[in-house]
Amino acid sequence: MKPILLDVDAGVDDTLAIILALLSPGLEVRGITTVAGNVPVRSCTRNVLLTLEVLYPMLHTFPPVSTGASTPLRRTLFTAKEVHGNDCIGGASAFYPSPKTGSIRGNGVDLILETLKREANLTLVATGPLTNIARALKKDFPAMKRLREIVVMGGAFNGAHNTGPCAEFNFYVDPDAANAVMLSGLPIRLIPLNVTEQCILTPDDLRAIDHTSLRRYIQRVTKFYFDFHKRTENFIGGYLHDPLAVAAVLEPSLLRTELGYVHVERMSTYTRGMSIFFPRLNMRKQAELPKWVKSTLLRAPTVKVATVVDTKKFKLLFLKPFLIAH
Ligand code: BDR
Ligand code: CA
Repeated sequence: MKPILLDVDAGVDDTLAIILALLSPGLEVRGITTVAGNVPVRSCTRNVLLTLEVLYPMLHTFPPVSTGASTPLRRTLFTAKEVHGNDCIGGASAFYPSPKTGSIRGNGVDLILETLKREANLTLVATGPLTNIARALKKDFPAMKRLREIVVMGGAFNGAHNTGPCAEFNFYVDPDAANAVMLSGLPIRLIPLNVTEQCILTPDDLRAIDHTSLRRYIQRVTKFYFDFHKRTENFIGGYLHDPLAVAAVLEPSLLRTELGYVHVERMSTYTRGMSIFFPRLNMRKQAELPKWVKSTLLRAPTVKVATVVDTKKFKLLFLKPFLIAH
């Protein structure tokens, strides 16, 4: 079993990612931290606790949950209620009493660092703005170096964008944190928007879920999200951005990756949060590059960036734990 930590801004697809992680026998969730992004951080924590409560009969243990950053490092919060609904789970919270179970522990950054001090070989899966991760790096870099890998859903390449003219939402919300994490030198696998947009969940997929309360919960959580995609993208269903990051830990062979340098644009109004990728070249080709490229882009540590996903294999892997949940 692979031990993981989840850092989420619990919207609709984060919730699906959490369920996938908790129900997958190949993963052991050691803690869940929340961060402001899709909605303010308190709502994110409430959503995580509600999801844990709905899953309660199917879980052996409850991972600790902790609330993290309420604002990006240096900017005011920009949310995505129009995509995920006011409560960030498509209005589903209205159907359930406020969650009572689940343990809320201290502060999100500390939960990450404390868990790392106790346990090596952990993978951190980050599916929201990278504020908590950047803060944790600043607070205790040696502890963060104990991570096996950080898998990040964020960034966009090849012209893909969903926030502003050229950015992906998580990087747009906290570009300073995203840039700090990309330049940290830790082992990072980035799952960008242009890859996650190839993975779509449909209402038909959900009908096959046997477990009634789980099916009903997921249908309630996803309805608003599906309606948003119908309105704005003209297809029936919704993107599985964040579940793909969890699946990347479960089955790394789902994705092909390329090694290169990633920078995140922070200064300009129009390009805020834009991610730039430059591939790592062999020594000879690298030597031929202009000086300014060598002294800027190539001064960063390299990051693995997902470029191709096996969508069929992913869909099967994603649905499996939902279909056999009891
Ligand atoms: C990302 O933005 C958020 O709205 C989603 O939860 C996902 O993490 C996709 O750009
Ligand atoms: Ca998210």
